[in-house]
Amino acid sequence: MWIYEKKLFYPVKVSKPDPKIAKLLYEVYGGQDGELSSALRYLNQRYTMTDKRIIALLTDIGTEELAHLEVIATMIFQLTKDATPEQLKEAGLGPFFVNHGKALFYTNAVGVPWSAMYIQAKDDPIADLTDNIAAEERTRATYQWLIEMTDDVDLQDSLKFLRERTIVHALRFREAIELLKGETL
Ligand SMILES: [Fe+2]
Repeated sequence: MWIYEKKLFYPVKVSKPDPKIAKLLYEVYGGQDGELSSALRYLNQRYTMTDKRIIALLTDIGTEELAHLEVIATMIFQLTKDATPEQLKEAGLGPFFVNHGKALFYTNAVGVPWSAMYIQAKDDPIADLTDNIAAEERTRATYQWLIEMTDDVDLQDSLKFLRERTIVHALRFREAIELLKGETL
C-alpha cells in the first residue's frame, strides 16, 4: 500500500507561462523514457524478482518515480495554466488543447499517447535489471537535453535534481546485478 504525503518531492518554481518548454516536458511525462514508464516498469517487475532486497529496491524506486511524475505534472500545469490559446497554438499545443483543454494527458512531446509497448517485464532478473539500467541512462540523457532547451534557472534546477536521481537509480540497479551474480557463484 502507499501513504500519500501532500508535498512535492522537489519544489517547482515557475514565474511565467511557457507552453513551448511544457510541450517538451511531455517527453518525461508520457514518453517512452519518461516517469510514467519508469514507475510502471519497476512496480510491475517486483512480482517475479527473486531476491527480496531487489523487490524492496523496485518498490522504493518505483514509488519515487511516481513522485517524479507528480513533479513533472506540476511543472507542465504551471507552465500552461495561464497561457492563451494563441500561445498554446504557437507552441504546437493547438491539437492537444482542442482535445484536452488545460488538462494533462499521458503523451510524449509530439503528442503520441503513452503505450505499454514502451516497457517490458521478462521474468528474468538479469534481463529486467539490465533493461532498467538502460532506461535510467536514456532518461538521464533526456533530462540533459531538456536542461539545454531552457534558460529558466529555476526550471533547470528541478530538472538537474531529477537527472541526478536517474544516475543514483542506475547505480542501484547495477549493484542489484552484482548482488545476484554473487549469489549464483
Ligand atoms: Fe524519475
